[in-house]
Amino acid sequence: MKNLRSLIRPLVRSLHAYVPGEQPKIPNLIKLNTNENPYPPSPGVLRAVRKAVDERLRLYPDPTAEQLRDKLARLHSCRPSQVIVGNGSDELLALAVRAFVEPARIGQTAAARSRATVQFPWPCYSLYPVIAEAHGARTQAIPLKENYDLPSASALRRGGSWDFRAALTFITTPNAPSGRGYSLSQLDELCRAQKGVVVLDEAYVDFAAGNALALTKKHPHVLIARTFSKAYSLCFQRIGYFIGHEELIAALHSIRDSYNVNGLGQVAAQATLDDLAYYERNFSRILATRERLRRELIGLGFEVVPSQTNFLFCKPPGPTAEEWLSALRDRRILVRWFRLPELARFLRITVGTDREAGALLKAVRDIVGRSRSGVD
Ligand SMILES: Cc1ncc(COP(=O)(O)O)c(C=O)c1O
Repeated sequence: MKNLRSLIRPLVRSLHAYVPGEQPKIPNLIKLNTNENPYPPSPGVLRAVRKAVDERLRLYPDPTAEQLRDKLARLHSCRPSQVIVGNGSDELLALAVRAFVEPARIGQTAAARSRATVQFPWPCYSLYPVIAEAHGARTQAIPLKENYDLPSASALRRGGSWDFRAALTFITTPNAPSGRGYSLSQLDELCRAQKGVVVLDEAYVDFAAGNALALTKKHPHVLIARTFSKAYSLCFQRIGYFIGHEELIAALHSIRDSYNVNGLGQVAAQATLDDLAYYERNFSRILATRERLRRELIGLGFEVVPSQTNFLFCKPPGPTAEEWLSALRDRRILVRWFRLPELARFLRITVGTDREAGALLKAVRDIVGRSRSGVD
C-alpha cells in the first residue's frame, strides 16, 4: 500500500482545519452554540421553496443568481454588477483570499510580504486564518484592546502592528466572538489607512445599531460581506453575498465555480427579501431577549461583553468555562467554548427564544447554586 500521506501537498498536511460548532445528533437539546436564528424562515419562504421542489431539480440553477442579485442591488441601492452571491459568505471570504493575495515565499522583500499578507484584528471570526493558510498566505493578527475594541485611532496612525500595505484585511463587524460593535468612524479611519482590499464582514449586522455599507460606496477597495444565515434563518441553504466595486466583484466572479449557488437557496433568499418585515419583527424579539439575558447573567455573576449581535460573550463565575460547557450540556444546553488560551475563560451563548433563555437561566442558577455549596 502506497503512503497516501506523501501524495498530499505539505501545505495541506500541515493545515489546522476550521472547527465548526457541534451540530448534535441527539434530539431535544437547546442549541445555543452556532448563532443560528431561533425563529423559522417566513411562511412565504417555506412556500416558495416547497413550490420549487419539482422536476426542475434536474436542471442547473442560474449560474449568476441574476434575479437575486437584482433584488439585492435594489435593496442596497447599487448595481447588480456590484453584487456576488456565494455558497454562504464563507465561500466568498475564501475567494477573496484567492483573488487578492499572493501565496507567500521564503526570502521576500517587505513589499512582496505585504502582497502575501492577510491581516485581521484578533480575536475575530476564526475562519480567516484557516483560509489564508490554505492559500499559503502569511497571516497577521492584530490584538484587539482588552475590552475587545479596535486599537485607537492614534495607535492606528502610529502604525502599531497593522500592515497598511497588506493585500487583504478582514474585519468582523460587529465582531465575533466578542459581539462588540465598532463605530463607523473607527472603521472609516481603518479603511482609509489601508492600501489593500478590506472586507468588512457584517454577518451579524442586522442585530447592530448601524452598518458600514456607506464605506464601500466611499472607498472602492472596501467590500461588504453579508449572509442570509444568521438574521434571515437560512443557514441550511448557504447563501451569502459581497457588495463592492464592480472591478473587485468581477475578479471574484472570474474564479468562482460556475454553479456556486444552489437553486433552492436562490429561491429561498429571493422570497426572504419579499418578507423583510417578518424578519425585522424577529430582530426586535431577539434584541429584547438579548437584553434580558445580559441583565440576568450579570446578576448571576457573569461578566458580559456589550453585544451588537445575536450572541453574548461572557466570562462565567466559579468553575472554568470548559466545566460550564459540560455542566450546561449535562442539562441539555449547548453553548460554544473555544480551546484557545485567549478565549478559554469565556463562553459564547447564542440568544435563542425567550423560552430557551429561560431554560438557560434556570440551568445557570442551578450550576451557580451547586458550585457555591460545593456540590458540582
Ligand atoms: C463573522 C462570520 N462571518 C461569516 C460567517 C459565515 O456565514 P455563512 O453561513 O454565510 O457562510 C460566520 C458564521 O459563523 C461568521 O460568524
